[in-house]
Amino acid sequence: SSTPLILGIESSCDETGIGIVRGDELLANAVSSSMDEHVRFGGVIPEIASRAHLEAFIPTLEQALETAGVTLAEIDAIAVTSGPGLSGALMVGVSAAKALALATGKPLYAINHLVAHVGVGVLDGGKLPENLGALLVSGGHTEILKVDSLTDSVTLLGSTIDDAAGEAYDKVARLLGLGYPGGPAIDAMAKTGDAKAIRFPRGLSLPKFVGTAEEPGKHRNDFSFSGLKTAVARCVEQYEARGEEVPVADIAASFQEAVVDVITSKAVRACKENGITNLMLGGGVAANSRLRELLAARCTSAGISLRVPTVSLCTDNGAMVAALGAQIVMAGGSPSGLSFATDSGQP
Ligand code: KG4
Ligand code: ZN
Repeated sequence: SSTPLILGIESSCDETGIGIVRGDELLANAVSSSMDEHVRFGGVIPEIASRAHLEAFIPTLEQALETAGVTLAEIDAIAVTSGPGLSGALMVGVSAAKALALATGKPLYAINHLVAHVGVGVLDGGKLPENLGALLVSGGHTEILKVDSLTDSVTLLGSTIDDAAGEAYDKVARLLGLGYPGGPAIDAMAKTGDAKAIRFPRGLSLPKFVGTAEEPGKHRNDFSFSGLKTAVARCVEQYEARGEEVPVADIAASFQEAVVDVITSKAVRACKENGITNLMLGGGVAANSRLRELLAARCTSAGISLRVPTVSLCTDNGAMVAALGAQIVMAGGSPSGLSFATDSGQP
């Protein structure tokens, strides 16, 4: 058939992902994570992640080819995440992709990781609608995007000025002794707590924190989670100083409510202000039960239709890279050549 068969490679953080798609159809999505090796440090260690990508690349590639039932010779093009992400980790995937492209003579496409989180939507729910925006929330990034064209016009409306949403979950889970990764642990613990017990700060939501005299409204669509993390730390310290038991479930629920409230209210407002009527959710934090619930409710009230891909397509993976690669190939985009660098910048 003339529908392109694309191999996608992802290595921007701790997941080595190799995906294979034929046009909008998912054939394989093999992922190897080095998460376990980072547990004792409470966060991703770049050097360890890079080393793990090097070890996992060939086995993950072989697994993807086997699942898809295709050979490397049958692939029409290779797509690889060139950024943003951890520099050393990106270099492993990009170098491997260049080696494969050189050895096989297949065209190579450099892919923006954030845009790939949106492009993955075609694999799960079909063709992307007009007036599209995206809310990406993970351990490494937190963004609101306006997507005029997946292949050549994506605008960053807002992002975090400090910690990513998932990073805030991971740091707070550590403070509460809940282990790593913290997102799933806090999500579960919050179910038994009172989300109204403590009013934690919603970063960058008060007008006085949103802009400067020169640039009023500068941070209107941006996020900040470091003040929230500090507020949780102070709260825990106060209980400990009084010799009282720390109400872990109430703190977890109240922290989660602060994160989810600010994320959903800012995302929905940005959609309204920018004519976005279709919102795609992506990133590992998309698995959060309260985020899904509140975002769905607020989108419904605002007349925004929400799309949430299945969790394995929301977390970092190779299929999303392959999916965006396929969109670019089908739109007649030119290959990137073999000399591009990794790029930690925004779309
Ligand atoms: O996209 P992802 O798999 O990869 C990275 O960005 O590295 O996202 C992982 C992040 C972690 O910070 C994790 O704590 C968070 O997603 N996460 C969650 C949940 N499941 C995973 N955060 C909140 N609630 C969850 N249920
Ligand atoms: Zn990601």
